[in-house]
Amino acid sequence: MGKRGADDAKFRLETRLALAGRDLARNEGAVNPPVQRATTLQQPMADDLYDPGKKTYGLEGMAVQEALREALRAVEGGAGATLAPSGLSACTLALLTVAEAGGEILVTDSVYRPTRKFCEQTLKRFGVATRYYDPRAGAAIGDIITERTRAIFLESPGSLTFEIQDVPAIAAAAQARNVATIIDSTWSAGVYFQPLVHGIDLSVQALTKYQSGHADAFMGAVLARTPQWHERVQAMYGQLGLNASPDDAYLVLRGMRTLALRLQHQGHAAVRLARWLEERSEVARVLHPALPSHPDHALWARDFSGASGVFAFVLKPQPPERVAAMLEHLRIFAMGFSWGGYESLIVPCGPQIVRSVIPWEAEGPLLRVSLGLESVEDLIDDLTQGFARLRS
Ligand SMILES: Cc1ncc(COP(=O)(O)O)c(C=O)c1O
Repeated sequence: MGKRGADDAKFRLETRLALAGRDLARNEGAVNPPVQRATTLQQPMADDLYDPGKKTYGLEGMAVQEALREALRAVEGGAGATLAPSGLSACTLALLTVAEAGGEILVTDSVYRPTRKFCEQTLKRFGVATRYYDPRAGAAIGDIITERTRAIFLESPGSLTFEIQDVPAIAAAAQARNVATIIDSTWSAGVYFQPLVHGIDLSVQALTKYQSGHADAFMGAVLARTPQWHERVQAMYGQLGLNASPDDAYLVLRGMRTLALRLQHQGHAAVRLARWLEERSEVARVLHPALPSHPDHALWARDFSGASGVFAFVLKPQPPERVAAMLEHLRIFAMGFSWGGYESLIVPCGPQIVRSVIPWEAEGPLLRVSLGLESVEDLIDDLTQGFARLRS
């Protein structure tokens, strides 16, 4: 009985997801790793306590965290994965790994708002400047890199407004100037887009979303392209005293076993719903990169191998009370933050959108949906009734 998993690169994604991190010898034949709630790791010999080759503290991660890290690498590749207690802490861990006092970080204007806040409030206090750039800058990012630029932060697609970034062009411009790159690639779940293959240094996943998939666990990860980058992230993880709970790691790993199937269902359902919405008279536009009408569809088709189940649509102008009437009485779609779970969600996004470079302009309210695993026909019926309330 041996170890299976991350080395089985020749297998297709579904097979890798089933095998990754399985260690029958270590786990007495159990298919799944044990959940070990461990802080102290007792050592038999005095010298072992200070042996850098030995695991000496539970914060380094036990069997279940190791298995999850292997599963993440089996999906996205790279030299190593570091877990973090939430998706946001994975973003901040990556940023702290590259930040230097006196330097600046270029951040996409479409970035997740809490990441923006961390840059503007915490990094600023430590002398790190943030400059925002147009998410559609592509190779032109090279024109705004300066001597002070230490890193470029990408998020593709932007998780509210769904701009797709030209990642290979940005990575190439950054590498040419020896600037680090970080991407929040949560939308793709690491499955439909491979940032490290495109030359990005650190790929961030909010595992809370698709990998967990069941709206019951927070976790994040930073995957590194090279061993040197992995070491730097690990050092920062250690200094910050971060921990990834074994119970949550178990849940996320369990979620990953069905990730490919869920994504496929949710992605198909989302595209079907997006096309249906395009035909509705109440809708001004639909923002799903898999639709030919999306301004970045060509980039998406070039770089992504599939669509995930989160997208947004813009309503024609409506008073807020009509939108509230539409949303508050939906029977299947629920209102709430986060996404990627088995339950369909819908949220009005207006208050979350902050822009510094290109103002967000829309015909009416922006609604974001995350498709769950319910029947898409039932979801369409639910929204049909919602639109009737919107008009009444
Ligand atoms: C794009 C993106 N990145 C990161 C996060 C943060 O994840 P978490 O909620 O696990 O902190 C979110 C959460 O909504 C997100 O949408």
